[in-house]
Amino acid sequence: IARKKLVAGNWKMNGSLVANETLIKGFLPEVTDAVDVVVFVPAPYLAQVQGLCQGSAVKWGAQDVSSMPNGAYTGEVSLPMLEEFGVTHVLVGHSERRTYHFESSDAVADKALAAIEASIVPIVCVGETLQEREAGRVVEVINAQLDPVFDRCGRYAQNGKWPVIVAYEPVWAIGTGVTASPEQAQEVHAAIRQRVQEKLGLEVAQSTRVLYGGSVKPSNAAEIFAKNDIDGGLIGGAALSSSDFSGIIRAAR
Ligand code: G3H
Repeated sequence: IARKKLVAGNWKMNGSLVANETLIKGFLPEVTDAVDVVVFVPAPYLAQVQGLCQGSAVKWGAQDVSSMPNGAYTGEVSLPMLEEFGVTHVLVGHSERRTYHFESSDAVADKALAAIEASIVPIVCVGETLQEREAGRVVEVINAQLDPVFDRCGRYAQNGKWPVIVAYEPVWAIGTGVTASPEQAQEVHAAIRQRVQEKLGLEVAQSTRVLYGGSVKPSNAAEIFAKNDIDGGLIGGAALSSSDFSGIIRAAR
């Protein structure tokens, strides 16, 4: 089954009105229908990015979302708000949210469910720490992160498709310059796909995209994206440079 590659740029807490415009205008010419491209931007810039990307093949999303529709949740942003700015995708459970904001896998699954119900695609981020890897617990840790997502969102798998994207980001590879080797990443991606198959069947497993994130650069992207179960990347640092992000988009073609 051919899964279209997806290159996602997670700007994290970076950007400015001027820098965002330069960045987007810089990589826009590289974007064709051959590869899906989504940028995850800080919430205050959604309107700006909507203005810059609307009508192009680039989609935009938020880096987190509340599972609540509205109410007394100071500091939170809701799905109906994101919808007003044309958002199509949202990150949930990024390791920085899990670490600094103590998000549990249950809370992450609640966000994924709320996103699906708003017809916004959640990219569910999972990954092990170095300590967990060294203890031989990679698959156990990732399954524990994913299982609440299957429990809550599994019923939305229909006709061999599931409106969920998974991103595997080993915590030790995020922002460190240390990338998982393509073989290490492939091994975990295959295990994730295996888990999807156990829970939701072969057809869904084969259509679900699993992205790799963690120090992806133009120089290593092609080798990583060439692996069977790697369907693109979730890019942090290199998504802030239009030449690097362009190089990664080209590597995915
Ligand atoms: O969401 C993106 C990841 O955390 C990867 O970040 O490419 O800077 O390592 P990085």
